[in-house]
Amino acid sequence: MKKDLLSILDLSRDELREILDDADQLKILRKEGRPHEFLYGKALALVFEKASTRTRISFEVGMAELGGHALFLNPQDLQIGRGEEIRDTARVMSRYVSGMMIRAYKHSTIEEFARNSSVPVINGLSDIEHPCQILADIMTVREHFGSIEGLKVTWVGDGNNVCNSLVLASSRAGFEITVASPDKYRLSESVVKRAIAEGGTVTLLKDPQEAVKDAHVVVTDTWISMGEESERDARIRAFKGFTVDTGLMKKADPDAIFLHCLPAHRGREVTDEVIEGPQSVVFDEAENRLHAQKAVLVRMIGREIRLPRTKI
Ligand code: CP
Ligand code: NVA
Repeated sequence: MKKDLLSILDLSRDELREILDDADQLKILRKEGRPHEFLYGKALALVFEKASTRTRISFEVGMAELGGHALFLNPQDLQIGRGEEIRDTARVMSRYVSGMMIRAYKHSTIEEFARNSSVPVINGLSDIEHPCQILADIMTVREHFGSIEGLKVTWVGDGNNVCNSLVLASSRAGFEITVASPDKYRLSESVVKRAIAEGGTVTLLKDPQEAVKDAHVVVTDTWISMGEESERDARIRAFKGFTVDTGLMKKADPDAIFLHCLPAHRGREVTDEVIEGPQSVVFDEAENRLHAQKAVLVRMIGREIRLPRTKI
C-alpha cells in the first residue's frame, strides 16, 4: 500500500529514526561525491499554491541527485486553475509520476490529493502542518547533540503550522516541548490533545522568558504566515515581547542552539544578532531539508525498478 506523509504523525517512532539515519547517510554520500541514484527514472510532481525557496529547490535538487526528476507545477498553469477537479487531476497525475509533493493553503486540499492518488503524497506545507521541515529540524538537533531524546525544545511565537508539526513530533522523538505564545495565537487545543494522546509532554506558557529557561533548542518562525498578510499590523502588535534576542537566548542553556525554518524577518521574530550569532544553525537546518527529504523519497517511492524480460 502507498504511504503518504501528510502529518509528522504518519511516521512511527521507528520510521522517523530510520529516515533520519538514512538522511545522515545520504548527506555523507553527497559530501563524498558518491553517486546514489536510488530513484533512477522516477518522477515527482511538485504542486505549489504558495511561494517557496527551500522546499522547491531541495525537492528539485534532491530528485535530480537521486537520478530522477521533479516537475514544478503551478496550479494556475494546470487545468486545476480552470476548474478541473482535484480528484481527476490526482488520478491522472498518478498515471505519470511516482510521487507528489503538494504545498497548499488548506490541508484538506492535500488530503484530497492523497485520497485520490495511487502514488505517495507528501505535504510540502499546509495551514496545519509542515512535516518535512520538522524532519530537517530534528536531523539538525541530532547533529549537534547526538540525540534529541530528553532535550528541552522551546518554541517562541506563533502556534502555527510549523509549531504544530514540532509539537506532534515530540511524542515520536521523545523531546520535551514548551510553547510560548500570546493568548490569541496559542497552539490549537486539538494539537495539544493529540500530542499528549501520542505520549508527548507539552507545556504552554505566555512568557517567553520563562519558556526558554534551560532550553537546549530555541525555535521560532514568522509571525505572519503565508495567507495571513491582511492581519499583519494586528499580529505585529500582539507579538511584541516575543522577539528572540540575545537577552532571551541568555536564559536558555549555555549550549543552546537556535532554529528557524526561514524565511526570517530580522527585527521581528528574531534579531540579526541571534540569527547571525554562534548559536544559530539555521543554514545547516535549511541544508538538511535536502537530505531529510531525499531519505523520505527513497523510502516512499524507491521501489526497485524491474524491467520486463523480453524473449530474444
Ligand atoms: N522553510 C520553508 O519551507 O521554506 P520555503 O517556504 O522557502 O520553502
Ligand atoms: N509558517 C510559515 C512557514 C513558511 C515556510 C508559513 O506558513 O508561511
